[in-house]
Amino acid sequence: MRAPDQEHATWRGHIAAAAQLLARHLGSGDRVEILEAGCGSASQLQFPHEARRVGIDNSRAQLARHPALDERIVGDLQAYPYPAERFDAIVCWDVLEHLHSPEAALDGFARALRSGGLLVIGVPDRASLKGQLTRVLPYRAHVWVYRYVFRMRDAGTADRGPFPTPMTPAMDRREIVKRMHAHGFEILVDIRYESEMMIELRHRFGLTGRTWAATKRVARWLTANRLAIETSDCLIVLVKRGRDRGRSERDAHGTSARA
Ligand SMILES: C[S@@+](CC[C@H](N)C(=O)[O-])C[C@H]1O[C@@H](n2cnc3c(N)ncnc32)[C@H](O)[C@@H]1O
Repeated sequence: MRAPDQEHATWRGHIAAAAQLLARHLGSGDRVEILEAGCGSASQLQFPHEARRVGIDNSRAQLARHPALDERIVGDLQAYPYPAERFDAIVCWDVLEHLHSPEAALDGFARALRSGGLLVIGVPDRASLKGQLTRVLPYRAHVWVYRYVFRMRDAGTADRGPFPTPMTPAMDRREIVKRMHAHGFEILVDIRYESEMMIELRHRFGLTGRTWAATKRVARWLTANRLAIETSDCLIVLVKRGRDRGRSERDAHGTSARA
């Protein structure tokens, strides 16, 4: 059974808000450059049309399938020598969980962003039930879910995903925020929500209504309230503090959103 549309409203709203924030921040102008880090074959956010879009991914096949990039870089996010202060924004969506050294990727982003630039991160919440299941289940279980639950018959072939998920401690939301603070970034958005995939997965397994309410109670008890059950993913938007643009950015966006 597919999830009803209204259950998807929350994550769609967060993604739309992040895209608006990005558009407001970048303004208009064709000299604006965005890096999609681990761009894969599709983008989750809508970008301003005028922006120049650079994608980096270590899979040549994924890069080739992406329909909307102005420049394609085959490279490892954990080691790529970006020019300093090149990009106006960096978007890294559903990638940090796949890296053995997400901290190296984050350090690279800090260097590659201009002062006042935005970093948009979408990542599973390591401190959630989904996060822990993702981490402990073997890769072949991920492939099984994609093939037989989501009916993606070619899952696990030709770099189509799922991708291995080491989910090291450095991709935990609090660690990301701490690290970027140390680089002089400030949080604009820090939200946890239930992702599209989790909503669909729940519905396929009949975890809705009273059954879902009872499952949540049991899961909370079993995990001693240490894991998020209702939410599965994080959206974090940070601004690189710097000279004048950093201040005008804070003024423009007001107080930070947190959930
Ligand atoms: C789950 S996909 C996400 C793709 C896209 N960002 C999206 O939201 O649909 C993860 C992507 O990260 C890429 N990736 C994994 N490890 C990487 C690395 N070390 N360097 C660059 N890209 C990597 C994979 O090839 C894949 O395209």
